[in-house]
Amino acid sequence: MLTQQQLKQQAADAALEFVEQVAAPDVVIGVGTGSTADLFIDGLARFAGRIRGTVASSERSAQRLASHGLTVLDLNDVESMPLYIDGADEIDANLHMIKGGGGALTREKIVASVAERFICIADESKLVERMGAFALPIEVIPMAREAVARRLAALGGQPRLREGFITDNGNIILDIAGLSITDAAGLEARVNNMPGVVTCGLFALPGADVALLATQNGIRRLTR
Ligand code: 5RP
Repeated sequence: MLTQQQLKQQAADAALEFVEQVAAPDVVIGVGTGSTADLFIDGLARFAGRIRGTVASSERSAQRLASHGLTVLDLNDVESMPLYIDGADEIDANLHMIKGGGGALTREKIVASVAERFICIADESKLVERMGAFALPIEVIPMAREAVARRLAALGGQPRLREGFITDNGNIILDIAGLSITDAAGLEARVNNMPGVVTCGLFALPGADVALLATQNGIRRLTR
């Protein structure tokens, strides 16, 4: 029986095969945040010198990438990336995701938007029929905390401030429990439209292109 850590390692290793296919001196790889992304970063170390560099979705990942000798580029200096590799807190069969458990959702969404393909890496426990059991993280500008919380409560959620946490962008996170998400794209658009919301942790507009889900019997691959 493989542990969750071993399953995450399998998913990270599977993503490295995608990097192998595109590696070239001018190629930049987008890199996510979290414990699964950390394992991917550790494996990516072997590509130092074979790719132009990486773009990180958080200060945490940037430090880990740099510690492996990988170049970390400013997104403003990068026009395109073939791949963005990241984990998820929940993913459904449409490859829609909830992300932001690590609080890096905004930069994750920005970096992913520049990449041609989003490869989601996770253990199979992240695959759900309906998203919402994992409280939906929302990055909010501090002065809008209560105004946004009231709007989210009106949608049926129970907002909770992530105590003691400030994002890399200097904002707060509201985690919204109690949502049963039937229209992820609609909800993403609606929440993103609330004044004071920087980004909602739904990734449905678009979602991932490929999910590499580690199971006890190997990698299960889902494609959009
Ligand atoms: C961070 C994220 C992560 O991808 C998500 O929380 C999954 O993390 P892990 O790989 O540790 O389970 O969105 O903001």
